[in-house]
Amino acid sequence: MTADRPYDIVLFGATGFAGGLTAEYLAGHADPGTRWALAGRNQATLTEVRDRVAAVNPACADLPLLHADTADTASIEEIAGAARVVITTVGPYAQHGEPLVAACARAGTDYVDLAGEPTFIDRMYLKYHEEATRSGARIVHACGFDSIPADLGVYFTVKQLPEDVPLHVEGFLRVHGDVSGGTLHSAIGIFADVPGMMSAERERRRVEGRPAGRRVRISRRPAPKTRVGDGWTLPLPVLDPQIVARSAAALDRYGPDFCYGHYLAVRRLAGAVGLAAGAGALFTLAQLPPARALLLRFRAPGEGPSAERRARNWFSLTFAGEGGGRRVVTEVAGGDPGYTETARMLGESALCLAHDDLPETAGQVTTAAAMGDALIDRLVKAGLTFRVLDAG
Ligand SMILES: NC(=O)c1ccc[n+]([C@@H]2O[C@H](COP(=O)([O-])OP(=O)(O)OC[C@H]3O[C@@H](n4cnc5c(N)ncnc54)[C@H](OP(=O)(O)O)[C@@H]3O)[C@@H](O)[C@H]2O)c1
Repeated sequence: MTADRPYDIVLFGATGFAGGLTAEYLAGHADPGTRWALAGRNQATLTEVRDRVAAVNPACADLPLLHADTADTASIEEIAGAARVVITTVGPYAQHGEPLVAACARAGTDYVDLAGEPTFIDRMYLKYHEEATRSGARIVHACGFDSIPADLGVYFTVKQLPEDVPLHVEGFLRVHGDVSGGTLHSAIGIFADVPGMMSAERERRRVEGRPAGRRVRISRRPAPKTRVGDGWTLPLPVLDPQIVARSAAALDRYGPDFCYGHYLAVRRLAGAVGLAAGAGALFTLAQLPPARALLLRFRAPGEGPSAERRARNWFSLTFAGEGGGRRVVTEVAGGDPGYTETARMLGESALCLAHDDLPETAGQVTTAAAMGDALIDRLVKAGLTFRVLDAG
């Protein structure tokens, strides 16, 4: 039991860009009585973050500050043992993430992060899923823009469709956003090790197996015409469809034969061509060490978009779902995807694990399987949109 631990939530990485926004979010929105603390490797910058947070909510002026450095295993074990839920924004996760996942799996501590790195997530599954299942820890990766809108959006869509029939869902993302230094460094790390990503995915498939008596697929067919408005679509090879498929494998409600396709939607053909060329160039440059070093200089860790820029950013993810003779169109939408909304989604995920009445789960689990309706309720109250556009 973790109820008698000193903190409900410890936030590790508060001195970074996404971590600082998450600290401000918790200061303004944590459920009354939540016992929480900030953790990091640098006491002086942690104190500055606490001052910022106290400007949002003066009651946070005495927030405890805990020392934790991923290079010091004992300090990581200490925060995992002191909290019911640990939030980490210490990335790139492939570089810094493993010690905390290991410590939480061992201590039975719930864990949420912002990892959009498939290799890291698959490796953590292979190494710690069983131990976390035994200890009761819920290890929930991708609790930001990667992959909550897709995961909970598909969950929401499936619930509008009939039960026990084959279901087909497609998601079309429209987005206007920016990247921080931490996101750039993590993305280049993914592009630079595609063979590592494929081998971790293969190994995971071998160990995990398929859901008994049901079929779950990610659509590999060429990008369809957008079925939810005008424009062009591109395949979007990000983490989201894998997370959706894991939720579908975990939850019978997704039916006996579930298929999901994930696409980027753009209004003009020139936009589609430009994006495809840009992604191809970035991928190619990331393979060459000198070009990779240059790319990494584009944005340093700790840097991110200003509040003014974030206020202009937005996203919408529209889903077309069909099955059992019904068709539905739904939407998840919000403001600045990568940071303002990500801090909100991450903060609410931790609060949900700490305070809500949830289905019994353990091990590496998705947001839909671990939190589902309770997290959607929280996000809607916090200002995100989940709605049915067309009920067929
Ligand atoms: N999934 C999504 O939608 C999403 C959205 C936003 C961000 N992200 C991910 O979130 C992560 C953080 O992004 P960011 O922009 O906030 O990065 P960032 O500003 O560079 O922050 C990194 C944080 O990690 C800390 N850190 C680094 N090495 C450490 C160590 N050895 N021990 C303890 N702390 C250490 C840094 O502490 P110091 O201040 O002491 O250096 C800082 O607090 C990235 O992996 C990014 O890809 C994902």
